[in-house]
Amino acid sequence: MRAGAEDAGSVEGRPGNGQIGILGPVELMGEESAVVSHGQALNFGQPVAIGLFAILHFLRDADDPAGVVACLRDAVAPGSYLAISHIGTDFFPNKSALAEAVAVYERASERVWPRSRDQILSFFDGFELLEPGLVPKHQWRPVTGKAAVGTPNIQWGAVGRKP
Ligand SMILES: C[S@@+](CC[C@H](N)C(=O)[O-])C[C@H]1O[C@@H](n2cnc3c(N)ncnc32)[C@H](O)[C@@H]1O
Repeated sequence: MRAGAEDAGSVEGRPGNGQIGILGPVELMGEESAVVSHGQALNFGQPVAIGLFAILHFLRDADDPAGVVACLRDAVAPGSYLAISHIGTDFFPNKSALAEAVAVYERASERVWPRSRDQILSFFDGFELLEPGLVPKHQWRPVTGKAAVGTPNIQWGAVGRKP
């Protein structure tokens, strides 16, 4: 989501350049005219699609990512979709491999907070998962003949629909 205001929601270490930090969705939803897509204000009376791709693992548990998602869920109309990809602890064979991956992110950008499949699944509370459910990201309806080769996947991915 992107704000029309130039300096909206910029938090140290968080999105700038007009992007709104996801930590304040309550305020965000109260500012409907600030939430724009392709230059048009979103109408939250109509179904929308929320894409949180590789975003929630930048939120600490203390940031309450489940609460952030629940707030978005409660704000959107029935028929809306939620898509999430999120780094999973399950993809690492042991704690040291996980710690090394976290350290690589920390050196490159910022700290990540990988979560278990069950934790990530709980972000879809109140949504009906589309087939094939919460799966390794590259297995979610891959385009035939375009499967990534040789790229290790470390993220779970799913799409849900608010009934
Ligand atoms: C790995 S990039 C993914 C970008 C994009 N979703 C994609 O899949 O190409 C991580 C993104 O998370 C955003 N991000 C990190 N913390 C955030 C927060 N608190 N609120 C909103 N976005 C955040 C960063 O600005 C960055 O754009």
